[in-house]
Amino acid sequence: MNSPTMQGLSLNAPSYVKHARLIAWVAEMAALCKPAAIHWCDGSEEEYQGLCQQLVDAGTFKKLNPAKRPNSFLACSDPTDVARVEDRTYICSEHKESAGPTNNWMAPQKMRATLNPLFDGCMKGRTMYVVPFSMGPLGSHIAHIGIELSDSAYVAVNQRIMTRMGKAVYDVLGADGAFVPCMHSVGAPLAAGQADVKWPCNSTKYIVHYPETREIWSYGSGYGGNALLGKKCFALRIASTMGRDQGWLAEHMLILGVSSPEGKKYHVAAAFPSACGKTNFSMLVPPEGFAGWKVTTIGDDIAWIKPHADGKMYAINPEAGYFGVAPGTNYHTNPNCMASLNKNVIFTNVALTDDGDVWWEGMEKDSGALPAHLIDWQGKDWTPAIAKETGAKAAHPNSRFTVAAGNNPALDSAWDDANGVPIDAFIFGGRRSTTVPLVTEARNWVEGVYMAATMGSETTAAAAGQQGVVRRDPFAMLPFTGYNVSDYFQHWLNMGDKLSQAGAKLPAIYCVNWFRKGEDGKFVWPGYGENMRVLKWMIDRLEGKAKGIDNGFGVSPTYAEITWQGLAFSQAEFETVTSLDKADWKQEIALHTELFGQLAYHLPAALEKTKAQFAQRLAA
Ligand code: GTP
Ligand code: SPV
Ligand code: MN
Repeated sequence: MNSPTMQGLSLNAPSYVKHARLIAWVAEMAALCKPAAIHWCDGSEEEYQGLCQQLVDAGTFKKLNPAKRPNSFLACSDPTDVARVEDRTYICSEHKESAGPTNNWMAPQKMRATLNPLFDGCMKGRTMYVVPFSMGPLGSHIAHIGIELSDSAYVAVNQRIMTRMGKAVYDVLGADGAFVPCMHSVGAPLAAGQADVKWPCNSTKYIVHYPETREIWSYGSGYGGNALLGKKCFALRIASTMGRDQGWLAEHMLILGVSSPEGKKYHVAAAFPSACGKTNFSMLVPPEGFAGWKVTTIGDDIAWIKPHADGKMYAINPEAGYFGVAPGTNYHTNPNCMASLNKNVIFTNVALTDDGDVWWEGMEKDSGALPAHLIDWQGKDWTPAIAKETGAKAAHPNSRFTVAAGNNPALDSAWDDANGVPIDAFIFGGRRSTTVPLVTEARNWVEGVYMAATMGSETTAAAAGQQGVVRRDPFAMLPFTGYNVSDYFQHWLNMGDKLSQAGAKLPAIYCVNWFRKGEDGKFVWPGYGENMRVLKWMIDRLEGKAKGIDNGFGVSPTYAEITWQGLAFSQAEFETVTSLDKADWKQEIALHTELFGQLAYHLPAALEKTKAQFAQRLAA
């Protein structure tokens, strides 16, 4: 089938694609973007290998030493394209109030008029990949389908790992199924005869969402959440608006299972901001003193959560792989993750060793020494001496690995269950060097929603911009909520009301902080696997075994209630990470007041009331 506007370009839709509206859309987008060819991805292994080889030939991929890292590749991006670009991310709803004060907004018509000339001819000289994917198990009632059109083969191969990608999606879609159209271009057309670069991108970037028509348009970046449109754009920004309309939740949460020696199993979903420990926590290996305990991974970044008829909230992981932070990952901090990375991995922006393997900061903890020589993520020589002199990092701080969930030795047997797993507790945690205690349990749902809504966290390398600045990051969703965040708070309150009125026991809500620092500037809490000690206390609370004490904010553990076997952590150190300083909290509440001032439109009255109560309790 050839569209008359496509100037001889063959659409070549495979016969198994039966969806006329989809085919017409691809034709329309091809006519706009003017690619040299169209490739309909079928998701097969041969296709994956072929595209990887093509990326090797283009210089985008370097094949790693197969003896060290079988079937694995390293991509190094343009130094200007290394992270999500929040200031270029837009929620284009009809009304500005629907996007709310935390999102960049532009009227849809104006944005379309801006993007249309950018997309006109943007794929010249390139192939347009048609990437069909399911977020969630294929055919699950919780899952949704997207079709990404991208001029990046890097995106196509990453999507095959990160999502259920391939021709089976068209069986689910049938002749008329719903899909979210996801347009993506790196914004680097090639003139006839023009040589390509290793990492094409454009200094003009737009990451655009139309929540009302459920469309995504991304231009100018090939990196992570800017380009793998199933992830933040679809599974969080678009899905959060779907969840609001349909009575479910799309959250920036890991999902884990934790089994006790008695064989009881609980499920926990935890929201930490970007690069604040979700992947780590989801793969936790219990430390000494926890014989018989086991943590299993359902998801490491995103959860879709729906209430079922039994009144419980069930969570699925809409993704099929992990796009995780490399630096800091080693056999001490996250052995399951390291084991996941031994084959079939795409690494982006880490360093290359002289024997064709990968390296990043933190790996020296495993080998006991820094490597004598590396090629850093920008292709430059790196030695310990150079690093000492210039501070140069061998791996970019937001360097990442892309790996299938199936590689994870701690993968939960129900990770792919179409019905999801029942959630017993929610955890919210920011990166705070001061003020916020190690763990506090909310006394009820509304106070838990308040804790999540007012959460602050230090910014990280996961987003372009200044790092280490405390900002409010409600529910770890600041850059990911596709609608007005005050309405999002109300949605959480409504979900709680509805379920408890129906007689359900709501999940407990905890607020944690692994990142308190001492006067020496070092983390006091050992973190990583040791976070099991906090998780165990939460389970003791669920089972009615720990009484805790009220710290004015909520319920926190006594020193005696934590299992300390195998860890030397003194009562004084415990006090450093659990103390709640009145002066600090006066300032903290002032920041909540400032936030609520910004979010005044539609801010739930229950949250204002809760703030007043907290201010009183903390002053008492
Ligand atoms: P995104 O993929 O960006 O959403 O990140 P994430 O929340 O999954 O973060 P991840 O688990 O990849 O951890 C990010 C960084 O925080 C890594 O460098 C980790 O080593 C570090 N980290 C994770 N858990 C802990 C912890 O308990 N304590 C300390 N001090 N650092 C941690
Ligand atoms: C995050 O930034 O929270 C990530 C990485 O998980 S990205 O896919 O780039 O959004
Ligand atoms: Mn994330």
